[in-house]
Amino acid sequence: MSDIERKNDRKKVLLGLTGGVAAYKAAELVRRLGDRGIEVHVVMTEAACGFITPATLQALSGHPVYTSMWDGRIENGMPHIELSRDKDAIVVAPATADFMAKAALGLADDLLSTLCLARDCPLIVAPAMNRQMWEHPATQRNVAQLKRDGVTILGPESGDQACGETGMGRMLEPDTLAEAVSAFLAPKILKGKRVLMTAGPTFEPIDAVRGITNRSSGKMGYALARAAIAAGAEVTLISGPVSLNAPFGAAVTRVQTAAEMFEAVKKHAAKADIFIGVAAVADYRTSAPRKHKIKKTEEDQLHISLVPNPDILGWIASRPKPPFCVGFAAESRNLDAYADEKRRRKKVRLMIANLAQHAIGADDNEVSMLDDNGTHRLPLASKDVVAQQIVAHIAGLCDSKARKSK
Ligand code: CTP
Repeated sequence: MSDIERKNDRKKVLLGLTGGVAAYKAAELVRRLGDRGIEVHVVMTEAACGFITPATLQALSGHPVYTSMWDGRIENGMPHIELSRDKDAIVVAPATADFMAKAALGLADDLLSTLCLARDCPLIVAPAMNRQMWEHPATQRNVAQLKRDGVTILGPESGDQACGETGMGRMLEPDTLAEAVSAFLAPKILKGKRVLMTAGPTFEPIDAVRGITNRSSGKMGYALARAAIAAGAEVTLISGPVSLNAPFGAAVTRVQTAAEMFEAVKKHAAKADIFIGVAAVADYRTSAPRKHKIKKTEEDQLHISLVPNPDILGWIASRPKPPFCVGFAAESRNLDAYADEKRRRKKVRLMIANLAQHAIGADDNEVSMLDDNGTHRLPLASKDVVAQQIVAHIAGLCDSKARKSK
């Protein structure tokens, strides 16, 4: 794809700011949307300009910022129509109670509210307000009306508020919002598919404070969960202990041990269309973890006896009617040969091979995808980009499987 094609392919959103303290987060939101390849054009209400300047948003977005219906920069004199016409969505963040009331009623008395009424693209709204305002029946009525009108509401969440109170009404964090907007705009190649996944390490206790684990960060698995959600899948993520935020929109079950991970997978296996095993499951656990901390003794050696853990991927792939199974092979050498052997042994349709010493904990990854058609190498890229490419490959293989079975 040429640079021009890639540029034309970029998603474009119109970001509307209304007058709330959370407007300061919009600066970060512009950046985070840009990180995801989304072009941002900004419109601000007069009240929003009291919280953050158009100059800041212009510098960050790289495009002129509009605040008035009478802006002479739009040649045909109709910014309330023109500004939304080539956009994939209007995102209003922060959205005040007043803005939502106007949008629910269809009022159009400034540039942003008129743009929303005259739009031919989806509207996404991220509320931000004091908890009492959010809980007020009038606001809740307006939220319900906006949902009926097909508006997507992202958040709010509960937490500390600028007014000093604590409760529901905080705007979602910019990174979460950008992730949700990016997912909203992505092609829905896994629409209707139920994806079950494992991610992260497992922790096998030795005693009350110690255990066996590995250095898996969960980043690749979480990136895949985000990419699958963005592709329209319903994602259930069984996660070992990691310090990552739950992917927005995933049903997450947190576990510690391989046995707990196995139980959680068994619970959801029957409903899954696709299973992706990204977890670095400990191959062994201690045969009898001690309830209390083991004390140091005069002995020269401490013996811990280990027993094998169940192979979760192997189990699900050998069910009578298995989902489409994807495994990850982390190897330190002979990458493709070991990964292909694992693919055949575990009877999975697709094995993703990566070098453990490069992949574990890193933000980037370089993988090969091994399936019945051969080996496909992906270039080194961020785990989010790699995840999107893997999801596209899975969707393609699922499609061809569906075509063959017809
Ligand atoms: N896996 C699993 N349950 C296990 C071990 C592995 O579900 N008990 C899955 C992993 O999530 C991954 C794939 O199997 O998708 C390969 O994991 P890996 O640890 O590389 O394979 P092993 O079979 O354990 O082989 P080895 O450690 O000998 O390389």
